[in-house]
Amino acid sequence: MPALRPPRRAGFFMRIAKLLAGAVLAQAGQLHAADVQAGKVKAQACIACHGEQGVSSMQNTPSLAGQPDGFIQWQLVYFRGKTRKDDIMGPIAAALTNADIRDLGAYFSSLSPPPPLTDADPDTPRFARGAKLAQANRCSTCHGETYAGQQAVARIAHQREDYLLKALRDFHQGKRTGGGIAAMPDAVYRLSDEDLQALAHYLARFQ
Ligand code: HEC
Ligand code: HEC
Repeated sequence: MPALRPPRRAGFFMRIAKLLAGAVLAQAGQLHAADVQAGKVKAQACIACHGEQGVSSMQNTPSLAGQPDGFIQWQLVYFRGKTRKDDIMGPIAAALTNADIRDLGAYFSSLSPPPPLTDADPDTPRFARGAKLAQANRCSTCHGETYAGQQAVARIAHQREDYLLKALRDFHQGKRTGGGIAAMPDAVYRLSDEDLQALAHYLARFQ
């Protein structure tokens, strides 16, 4: 199948995302090289919720393993700056220094991402609906062909289904704005709640 050409907005957005990620990383080079081992030690404060190897078994709590380094760092910066509001993560991020954020990003991005969810009794129609919606709405133009994410864009492949749905609903309702770039609200605003459920179902499971 021929690759879809990303829409103009996505190209523009990706350039901004790369600039932002580049700025953080350039600073990292000057001040403090990100340190995976130091990140592993600091991550002891995170694993009670995000899981021992960064794979969460807690409801509505995302896995962090295999998320792009840039995505993890930016979300922590957003929580710290309160542009992403969350009662749990806000105070945790407020206590992190820039060096902590770089080390934590380096550590969690180095871990193996979670495997796809499998069901004893697959819901084939819902899976197919999710696959169709993901293609029709060109989710892969930003998240990548395997939905593994890149730079400041999240890995969504095999994330917890409940968290995927929560995140999609938060974007849909305008509750989550992050960096103020409307990429996600734009991507989901036309979709129904049933559509969001089908997308979360599909992304948690596709092989
Ligand atoms: C008490 C539980 C708890 C602890 C401890 C915790 N987190 Fe979180 N974290 C959460 C929850 C819940 C969310 C989802 C917030 C939301 O719904 O928007 C989250 C979200 C995140 C996100 C956004 C990921 C995404 O996919 O959107 C990052 C990054 C993150 N946490 C990093 C950390 C780091 C690093 C630490 C340790 C320094 C940590 N967290 C400690 C509960 C926790
Ligand atoms: C124009 C680029 C773009 C498109 C198209 C796009 N996304 Fe995103 N998506 C992003 C970015 C950037 C983020 C990180 C959001 C932030 O920083 O606040 C994100 C975040 C997410 C998250 C939250 C992940 C997490 O762990 O917090 C989910 C779920 C998601 N996207 C699903 C989708 C789905 C499903 C589609 C297609 C309907 C889609 N995205 C289309 C750029 C895009």
